[in-house]
Amino acid sequence: PLGSRVNERGNLEIGGCDTVELAREFGTPAFVVAEDDICARARAYVEALRARHDDFDVLFASKAFPCTAVYRVLAEEGLVCDVASGGELHLALRGGFDAKRIYLHGNAKSLAELEQAIDAGVGHIVLDSFMDVDRVEQVAAARGVTQAVLIRVTPGVAGRTHAKISTGQADSKFGFGLDDARLAIERLRGSDSLDLVGLHMHIGSQLLSLDAYRPAVEALAALGDFSTYNFGGGLGVAYTAGQQPPAIEEYVEEKVRALHELIGTGKRLLIEPGRSLVANSTVTLYSVETVKRNVSTWVGVDGGMSDNLRPMLYGSVYEAFFADRPELAGSGETAHVAGKHCESGDVIVRDVPLADPKPGDILVTPATGAYGHAMANNYNGIPRPPVIFCKDGDARVVVRRETYDDLARRDV
Ligand code: LLP
Repeated sequence: PLGSRVNERGNLEIGGCDTVELAREFGTPAFVVAEDDICARARAYVEALRARHDDFDVLFASKAFPCTAVYRVLAEEGLVCDVASGGELHLALRGGFDAKRIYLHGNAKSLAELEQAIDAGVGHIVLDSFMDVDRVEQVAAARGVTQAVLIRVTPGVAGRTHAKISTGQADSKFGFGLDDARLAIERLRGSDSLDLVGLHMHIGSQLLSLDAYRPAVEALAALGDFSTYNFGGGLGVAYTAGQQPPAIEEYVEEKVRALHELIGTGKRLLIEPGRSLVANSTVTLYSVETVKRNVSTWVGVDGGMSDNLRPMLYGSVYEAFFADRPELAGSGETAHVAGKHCESGDVIVRDVPLADPKPGDILVTPATGAYGHAMANNYNGIPRPPVIFCKDGDARVVVRRETYDDLARRDV
């Protein structure tokens, strides 16, 4: 994260806090967040857009890190918010987002979620199917309101990424294909309670190349002229030193240029980053419990697929090193960092050099802010980790660690 460094004691410091001390004080596993890092990236998005385009908003794709404190920080930075469910909507409102500044997404929104959103006064709903159109219209009409909507289009262009997070291809569970989008646009022209303001697309996540955006915008341009365009999120981040994603400025530049050249300049431009706002702000701290040497060296830690599902779902690669000797990152015996769950796939990092691993060591995996806390679970009865915000040397718990009582709380 921004501002992380090795301190006088030789320990990794995040937001001015010594990570070895954080582990002692708050326990492990724990998500440690450099609050300033999130703010800096939000500002980078806003400034990059402001320098290039008049009328815009940056939406926080809140699925990436849905907790009240993160919503609050980004609301204070002036962002608007993308929610993908009634639950995220609830958290976004709780975190301080004005309902008018919230966009509701979803390919299978329930009637209850639509009622919740429209009753809350959500600014925009992104329509995903003909049935969604009918339902949103029905709820808006019953409430006697005119609801602003966007149509989500799958432009038939897929961003190059893992298949499970590629969304722009023609046969997708998301959005309208190009032909159906035309029909939906026609259908909405006749609606008394839905006000179609524009088009949305999101072609994939963790994109390390910007190539796919231009053809996707071209496909949208062929659908007519609207006041608002949401070009989604998707900018990839570096999980390891070897990955080199485009900078926020380059990503914004590409989207703005595509808008200006293929659609026009006087439009409202929305972009919807999740991962690239929050991933690199956070590290996970684990404690080493065991070291086993058989064919490989297995370093067993006190978390795993309950706090980071990404290696198991997408084959994602992470780095790992020790909090009290970060300068030795990348050197030492090659090992696998294994989680504590009951399956062989529960490996957080494979083939990583680790300097003299031993029980009690605090192991750090960087870049866990996006889709870590978000996808955490209680597999094997593991209480989910706390989220700790660090800033100027102060640490505060913004999500507490779960307890065993929490695990039983819903049991009747
Ligand atoms: N907008 C929409 C409509 C989306 O579906 C998504 C992500 C975003 C924006 C934000 O995309 P981002 O900027 O974060 O790439 N769990 C997966 C990622 C799933 C992304 C889902 N949609 C992972 O851990 O890689």
